[in-house]
Amino acid sequence: KTIDWDAEAAEKSGYEHFMLKEIHEQPKVVRDTINSVLKDGNINFESLTDEEMQNIQQVYIIACGSAYHVGMAAQYVLEKLTSLSVRVELASEFRYREMQLAKNSLAIIISQSGETADSLAALRLCKEKGVKTLGIVNVVGSSIAREADNVFYTLAGPEISVATTKAYSCQLVAAYLLAMQFAKARGEITEERFAELIAEINTIPEKIEKILEDKERLQWFASKVVNIKDAFFIGRGIDYAIGMEGSLKLKEISYVHSEAYAAGELKHGPISLIEDGTVVFSVVTQSALYEKTISNMVEVKSRGAKLFGLTTYGNYNMEDVADFTVYIPKIDNLFAGSLAVIPLQLLSYYVSVGKGFDVDKPRNLAKSVTVE
Ligand code: AGP
Repeated sequence: KTIDWDAEAAEKSGYEHFMLKEIHEQPKVVRDTINSVLKDGNINFESLTDEEMQNIQQVYIIACGSAYHVGMAAQYVLEKLTSLSVRVELASEFRYREMQLAKNSLAIIISQSGETADSLAALRLCKEKGVKTLGIVNVVGSSIAREADNVFYTLAGPEISVATTKAYSCQLVAAYLLAMQFAKARGEITEERFAELIAEINTIPEKIEKILEDKERLQWFASKVVNIKDAFFIGRGIDYAIGMEGSLKLKEISYVHSEAYAAGELKHGPISLIEDGTVVFSVVTQSALYEKTISNMVEVKSRGAKLFGLTTYGNYNMEDVADFTVYIPKIDNLFAGSLAVIPLQLLSYYVSVGKGFDVDKPRNLAKSVTVE
């Protein structure tokens, strides 16, 4: 498979920054990534056979930064759809641990660049220990793509902005497709549910498009929080993984000190940081956990927090507690992260622009971290 990355694609095509251009490319590149493996209602992986999928018992997902956050979300999806045991590891930690790797395991290395030093080292370690490896990689022919036993290419195209957006979104759908195929190959999903998920995953691009149409609202909200010094993100399950990503985006390009917590952890320490006016972003898309997170929101609100709620259309009682609410289109809970992350990308983008920072090239950061 070859992909043409022509020079024109590397220009901003009228957008003020690469990041905004890349945010807007998401409906297309997510669609391309889905279409690359979806044929006639089936998922066709050249990389892993059904038999290999049946024999795997343990999955390690290993990555850095945003790619690690994709791994966190993927863990929930894999656990929900299959009987696989799943661990998500930071590559920089994994490579120096004396971890006992299970037999019949698969290591999934997620990397946009395919050159991240720690991720590459982790991949090599897995291979040395006889663990089968799969790379979810964006850059064709990169080191991780070349060295992994199998590759699932995301079709995000060249990503110029240091802050990843479109590659992240493609990695997420790649992980969903992988989880769905694992479930199918292992006989752990009914045909009806599989068909339903295929139909749902196909709605992601148009729903991202819808969210992007409403970006002025986020821009307006960003103008209200442009001067904040600290921010907190809370959520449970997939929403926690998305909060981690929203928090990283904000600190990375807006230089706002930001922390993401599993909402249930608040009581175990972080809530002492909440005072009058502290901004808390709450991601609440998972219906089974909705009430739990709402009660955490009530707790921080009673300590003076300024609350931003991110939820699905229909959950209008969010407005009883949140000061500002953003809605995303309805979608199967498993895929909600793909929609919830979009407003958070826009928010960090507009805060960074509002502060006059170099959005595409934030200080101290490189697009690809090829040294430790
Ligand atoms: C995210 O916006 C970052 N720039 C960063 O965390 C990135 O995801 C990480 O360095 C991993 O890079 P990779 O996907 O190229 O391996």
